[in-house]
Amino acid sequence: DIHHRVETLLEQMTLEEKAGQLAQYSVGTPTGPGTGRNDYETLVRTGAAGSLLNVVGAQETNRYQRIAVEQSRLKIPLLFGFDVIHGYRTTLPIPLGMAASFDTALVEQSMRLAAAEAAAEGIRWAFSPMVDIARDARWGRVAESSGEDPHLGSAMARAYVRGYQGPSLSEPTSVAASVKHFAGYGAAEGGRDYNTVDMSDVSLRQVYLPPFQAAVEEGAATLMSAFHSHNGVPATANAYLMTHILREEWGFNGFVVSDWTAVAELVNHGIALDGPAAALKALTAGVEMDMESHLYGPEIPRMVRTGRLSLSVVDEAVRRVLRVKFALGLFENPLVDEKAAAYVATPQKRELARRMAEESFVLLKNEGGVLPLPSSGRKIALVGPLADAAAGMLGIWSAKGDPQDVVTLRAALERRLKDTGTLRCAQGTGVLSEETSGFQDAVAAAAVSDVVIAAMGEDETLSGEAGSRTSIELPGNQEQLLAALAATGKPLILIVFSGRPLALTNVQAHASTIVQAWQPGIEAGPALVNLLWGEVNFSGRLPVTFPRSTGQVPLYYNHLNTGRPAGKTDLTRPPSCPAEKYVSRYLDERNTPLYPFGHGLSYTTFDFAPPTLSASALTARELQQQAKDVLRVKTQVRNTGKVQGTVVAQLYLRILGASTAQPVRQLVGFQRVVLAPGESQELEFTLGFQELSFVDSRSLRGVEPHTRYDLWVGDSSEATQHTSFTME
Ligand code: IFM
Repeated sequence: DIHHRVETLLEQMTLEEKAGQLAQYSVGTPTGPGTGRNDYETLVRTGAAGSLLNVVGAQETNRYQRIAVEQSRLKIPLLFGFDVIHGYRTTLPIPLGMAASFDTALVEQSMRLAAAEAAAEGIRWAFSPMVDIARDARWGRVAESSGEDPHLGSAMARAYVRGYQGPSLSEPTSVAASVKHFAGYGAAEGGRDYNTVDMSDVSLRQVYLPPFQAAVEEGAATLMSAFHSHNGVPATANAYLMTHILREEWGFNGFVVSDWTAVAELVNHGIALDGPAAALKALTAGVEMDMESHLYGPEIPRMVRTGRLSLSVVDEAVRRVLRVKFALGLFENPLVDEKAAAYVATPQKRELARRMAEESFVLLKNEGGVLPLPSSGRKIALVGPLADAAAGMLGIWSAKGDPQDVVTLRAALERRLKDTGTLRCAQGTGVLSEETSGFQDAVAAAAVSDVVIAAMGEDETLSGEAGSRTSIELPGNQEQLLAALAATGKPLILIVFSGRPLALTNVQAHASTIVQAWQPGIEAGPALVNLLWGEVNFSGRLPVTFPRSTGQVPLYYNHLNTGRPAGKTDLTRPPSCPAEKYVSRYLDERNTPLYPFGHGLSYTTFDFAPPTLSASALTARELQQQAKDVLRVKTQVRNTGKVQGTVVAQLYLRILGASTAQPVRQLVGFQRVVLAPGESQELEFTLGFQELSFVDSRSLRGVEPHTRYDLWVGDSSEATQHTSFTME
């Protein structure tokens, strides 16, 4: 068994070989500040590297792997890691888009495909899922997250892990997941990447940790430590997070890899005087593998020999790394079949990418029923910098994604309108451009068309890692172009491509219809065309709040209430409501979002019946930690429109009277339901300890007697159908 094999191997290893297993080097395009080396083959041959990242292609992984398993003394295989984030070659929507689908089964299937493609090229380790809760839209890494909600985030975290790791890690199509960035990174101050986090234990445990814990429960093999300083202790040296919570409380028995040079960065954080001190702090706090700091390899043997570091700490770390390598079957099957790895974009792969994209789109607004477009006879003007931007459709972290695989909106519209309409294209402006010379052509195209489609927003460079912005409005002069197009009086459909929620307040005034399309992947165009013509109905819902302006950020629906919440007059634009002086609000902006979490329109409408409960009271004393099916909530949902549609039924909860203030609402359940026109269906949600409990000021999860639970069901976080019960 694995335990025996690990111990046998460990006994044969020199100290240098042990340190080598804990060292990871990047070969190929760097994904962080270059650290420069060119002796990779020697490192592998001498057993000084246990893992490589950024090696791409079956031939290349095989080349290094052969050196490891044929020329190194102990023949320990390498583990190749890569940022497989939303697909390997077949690029799907960015994670924020996939989260908008609320479709965990489809996300799992998508990640299964990503795993198979990566594994075919020898990459058996994905640096994903990124499960950081992201409440600040300025932070570029919102794009890589599943948004702002712990419940949705946890469900998505599980789906990713199941997809990557498959039924067993030993399947040749499975890759080990690396759940990142442990933990709390999403709360970086000011939304600036890599920045400091200062957070209460209540927030950490109630908001930021649940997706990590869910992924660990699902069997995630590895985690990645974060870059930021967490309550003064950098996450990469944080024993409270990585030892106490992760291993002692959750019993995690995989390993943790640092983020890129995060071990060496402990010197910049000011908690280590030099590299060796940094390595010591990271390793003893729980980072088993050093990504690109080049410290563990040389420093671990030195520190053990001088008595600064105990050998048992090193052995335990090596055990954890070897266990994953054995579990992946790398010792039996270290190499891949180079011919079989050749990529073919099969119709099945394209179909999955298209469905995932279709489900990720959110119809934010559709005034005057501009959509769906009539089946023929239309003259369409297509404008904007993202109408034909293949790389922009692949988006951030597109792994081995190839722009040539992308069918852009322009290409799909040309195909669609070939015999049934006219397409006039004019880019108008660039994503970040201040130049207005292209406006004229765009406006001219609009003026002679029946409808204008504007493809605008952010390209792949404006979000993601190190992609923070202080302004989340449409970049460059795109808004100005939109205003010029609106002045033609033609119906205007705005398709927003972005890696974050943009503040669309001004934009909204110009566009009758707005579709949030994120970065949709290779099937961007065909998927959009299907929705624009109503051949597929919109079913995506926002996994993040869309603010009115940057100044409101961070804005999230599951906030606390304050002692002086703004009242109903919040609906009028301040400062026109002097009566509301001593309340928690801005003088120049409302508190409410432009589009709330969970929002998304459809070509049909849905109606929910008030929820009913299986009990009108529960007893706190009897509620066990493991309890799952404690309360059943039923409702009836009906399709009240004329076409088939998919509703994402959402259940929200608020706890009143507890010792710790609780959010005004929090999502505790969701279901995607397909309904024919006029059809209704009874839905049942089951709640257990996890959904009903909260974290108190002693950091303990529990429930309390003499509390009231309010529940709402509907199709956004503004759901109105309500009931309540008491906890006695
Ligand atoms: O996996 C990433 C991480 O999310 C950010 N820094 C670089 C890593 C490896 O590319």
